[in-house]
Amino acid sequence: MTQITPAPRPEDLRELIASQMHLEGPLLPILHAIQESYGHVPQSAVPLIADALNIGKAEVHGVISFYHDFRDAPAGRHVVKICRAEACQAVGGTAVAEHALQRLGVEWHGTTANGAVTIEPVYCLGLCACAPAAMVDGRVVGRVDAARMDELLSEAGA
Ligand code: FES
Repeated sequence: MTQITPAPRPEDLRELIASQMHLEGPLLPILHAIQESYGHVPQSAVPLIADALNIGKAEVHGVISFYHDFRDAPAGRHVVKICRAEACQAVGGTAVAEHALQRLGVEWHGTTANGAVTIEPVYCLGLCACAPAAMVDGRVVGRVDAARMDELLSEAGA
């Protein structure tokens, strides 16, 4: 289950940023450290990171949105990832994904209104032999058709 913590304080964010500054190319480690602590990278962290690294805020935003692992808002209580890579798409993964999004009434990266489930795309879970594949809170699930997806979403409270 994904942990949701209160809004981070600027001094705590600065401390986390400072703890990664010794690394070469510290931007990704900083983003990982913040997401690990807070479950997402809050908007308020962006100017602090930009200042610390002497880069533009747009650059920080660009990296956050480029990497699918980072989120800019807290996740729901459960995170369901659906594989969108080729092997899964070839055997019905696209239909499963569309079914899930439609059932939940959200777009990719969206969270259901009750806060139960956040849905994320993922690009190969290493489970191609059992495609279509999904992952629920870090647990991989193979051969997911629409009915199995419904079960997984129901179990997650969506
Ligand atoms: S392509 Fe989906 S698990 Fe590999």
